[in-house]
Amino acid sequence: MISVDFSKAVRRIDDFAAPLIQAHRWLQEATGRGNDFVGWVNLPRDYDKEEYARIKAAAKKIQSDSRALVVIGIGGSYLGARGAIDFLCSPNYNLKKKDTPNIYFAGNGLSGDYLQEIVDLVGDDDFSVNVISKSGTTTEPAVAFRFFRELLEKRYGRDGAAKRIYATTDKARGALKSLADAEGYETFVVPDDVGGRYSVLTAVGLLPIAVAGVDLDALMGGAAKMMDACRRGNLDENPAWQYAAVRNALYQKGKKIEILAAYEPAFRFMAEWWKQLYGESEGKESKGLFPASVEFTADLHSMGQYIQQGERHLFETVVRFGPSKSRLKVPRDESDGDGLNFLAGRDMDYIAAQAMDGTLLAHVEGGVPNLVIQAGEKNAETLGELIYFFEYACGLSGYVLNVNPFDQPGVEAYKKNMFALLGKPGYEELGKELREKLGR
Ligand code: PA5
Repeated sequence: MISVDFSKAVRRIDDFAAPLIQAHRWLQEATGRGNDFVGWVNLPRDYDKEEYARIKAAAKKIQSDSRALVVIGIGGSYLGARGAIDFLCSPNYNLKKKDTPNIYFAGNGLSGDYLQEIVDLVGDDDFSVNVISKSGTTTEPAVAFRFFRELLEKRYGRDGAAKRIYATTDKARGALKSLADAEGYETFVVPDDVGGRYSVLTAVGLLPIAVAGVDLDALMGGAAKMMDACRRGNLDENPAWQYAAVRNALYQKGKKIEILAAYEPAFRFMAEWWKQLYGESEGKESKGLFPASVEFTADLHSMGQYIQQGERHLFETVVRFGPSKSRLKVPRDESDGDGLNFLAGRDMDYIAAQAMDGTLLAHVEGGVPNLVIQAGEKNAETLGELIYFFEYACGLSGYVLNVNPFDQPGVEAYKKNMFALLGKPGYEELGKELREKLGR
């Protein structure tokens, strides 16, 4: 079970007990700001069991009839699945020998080269598409879906394509839902009361994750365990309360940037998921910690200098995992040209642990408070725990910060301008104004 060690971050957090009691009540009773979007709080036990069984069945079908799955989505409709598959199956998943399909992520940007590359990588392989969009109208995934739908229809005919398209969207509304109903695509639901960045444990994340061969029961089981731990109403026993308190304590002391660090390259995209979760939940009303991430030890050789001696507005949250599966030991080299024979016979976990401890002490001495989230072994259950832990702490932390952790009004600004410049009907006036500003 996850634990939080904040002894190298702050002295005390009991000042936060009262706001946390309130925030906890708002989440548990769905009575705080944004209370229409707290469906994820009980999700690990209250999920739709019929749909869950359909997700597993669809994953099996995709595994049996496809050598590739193209997952189309952006933001909350993308990062969780990408993070989980990287973490549990490897960032090199597509390169590995396996009996599950390659998984390509599309619709998470507007690069034509990136899109073309995925089309080329899929090549002549049999493939399926999981298009994920709650609204059904987000430009990036909608554009990508046009390409892959056309490709599927050319290859398998319209009916054949319909059997290979899985749409994860609103249960009743939106362009994607209408199209899916009209064409007969199998659909999965993004629940009304779950926002994108809290949706990884719904069909949004679960279908692609299952296609990659991950044990969904273990993932959900881990989340359910953490849900129970997060229900505890006190600071001593609830790790999410502790994390939320420490973050706010440090923020109030002028530490405006939180760096999430892990010593696992496979965690990189989970850190991207975490950045969206915290950035989008707290960064509003001119407030909020800026969430950044690093991958150690690689980034100690690039960002290490700044972290050690740059502006002192940072703190670090280090996620540590239990023992690795591999027990690689450093070989002895008779010539000892690199002078490393003192490590011969030591396993990589031992070396990494010394690096973690040494780095932590150096950074704390350099004025960067460190808190450590100790997680279990790298497996689906641990990931389920971590996901729920971060989500619950984020809800609490946003409430303690006195913002609505479940809206994202700022995301609309770029979309409006983009539509206006693209000439979308209804945006003519704004388009004119923007072109003038751009001197066009
Ligand atoms: O968290 C969010 O709400 C966003 O990141 C959305 O998930 C993202 O913008 C994609 O939206 P949609 O699923 O409607 O296409």
